[in-house]
Amino acid sequence: MRTRPGWRSWTSPLNYRHAFHAGNFADLVKHALLLAVLDRLTRGAEPLTVIDTHAGAGLYSLQDEAARRSGEAQAGVARLLADEGGAPAVLTPLIAAVRECNPIGEVQVYPGSPWLAMRALRRGDAYVGCEIRPDDHHELTANLAPLRGGAKVELLQADGYAVAAQRLAQGRGRTLLLIDPPFERADDYARVAELIAGRPDPARQPALIWTPLKDLETFDAFLDSLERAGPASLVVAQARLRPLDDPMRMNGCAVVLVDAPDVEAEARAVCGWVAAQLGGPGGGVRVERLAGAAT
Ligand SMILES: C[S@@+](CC[C@H](N)C(=O)[O-])C[C@H]1O[C@@H](n2cnc3c(N)ncnc32)[C@H](O)[C@@H]1O
Repeated sequence: MRTRPGWRSWTSPLNYRHAFHAGNFADLVKHALLLAVLDRLTRGAEPLTVIDTHAGAGLYSLQDEAARRSGEAQAGVARLLADEGGAPAVLTPLIAAVRECNPIGEVQVYPGSPWLAMRALRRGDAYVGCEIRPDDHHELTANLAPLRGGAKVELLQADGYAVAAQRLAQGRGRTLLLIDPPFERADDYARVAELIAGRPDPARQPALIWTPLKDLETFDAFLDSLERAGPASLVVAQARLRPLDDPMRMNGCAVVLVDAPDVEAEARAVCGWVAAQLGGPGGGVRVERLAGAAT
C-alpha cells in the first residue's frame, strides 16, 4: 500500500534498527543542530524539558555487525574526525562528545540523541526519552545509567507521539520536542504534523524534526502540513548528497525547526560541510525560512 509517492508502505515500528545508521551523515546534521539548539535553550535560568519522541538506544557500538555491514559511520563520523581541523565550529561540540565516548584511538562508539541531550542539560532540567522497541529501550536504560545525577530523566518504553501529546497538554514549562522517527510507516509524516499542530503553547514548545530526503513531492507535502499548523517560525535545513531523483534512496536529510531559536547560520555551516565532504555531484545545501523572521 502506498499513500503518496515515495511514502513507504506500512511496516511495523519494530523493523527499524538505528544501529545500522548511527554516526552517518544524517546523524551528524541532526546532532550538530540539536546541540546548537540546546546551547541556546539552556542559556537562561528557566528549566528546560526535552521530549525525545524516538530515542533509540542512546549509544551505538560501531564495531557491531550492523554498523560494520552498513559502513555508514565510516562514511560519516569517521570522515568528520579525519577532518577535525577543517570542520566548521558548529561541529565542535559534537566532535567533543564523540571524543568523550572514544577517549583513545579510532571512533568505536557513537552517542545518540539521548546521550547528547543528557550531557547538554543542567541540573533542574529534564529529559523524557521514548523508545518503542523493548530491546533498544533496555539498551537505552543501561547506556544512560552513567549520566544519571544531572538532569531528571525518564526513559519510557512507549509510543513517543502519544507521550509527547500528553505531556505538552499538561503544559509543564518550556519543552523542546525532538522528533526523529524512522519514517518507515506511512503515517509517520501525518503523526508528526498532528503533534506539531496540537501543541497548546507553541512559543514555549519548540520542535526539531529530522526527516530523510527521498523525493521532493513527499518532502513538500510534509512541509505544507507543518505550515498549515501556523507556526510563528519555520526553518528548513537540507543537506543533499545527490539529486532527489530516487524516492527509494535517502538522497539527503533535512532538519525542520519549528518555533525554535535561530540557528540558521549553524544549519548552513553543518549542511554545507556534509554536502561538500560527504556528498557527490548534484548535492548541496539549502536553508530556508518558511515562516517568521530571524531574531
Ligand atoms: C531514527 S531512530 C532514533 C535515533 C535517535 N533519535 C538518535 O538520534 O540517536 C528511531 C527510533 O524510534 C523508534 N520508534 C519507532 N516508532 C516509535 C514510536 N512510535 N515511538 C517511540 N519510538 C519509536 C525505533 O525503534 C528507533 O529506535
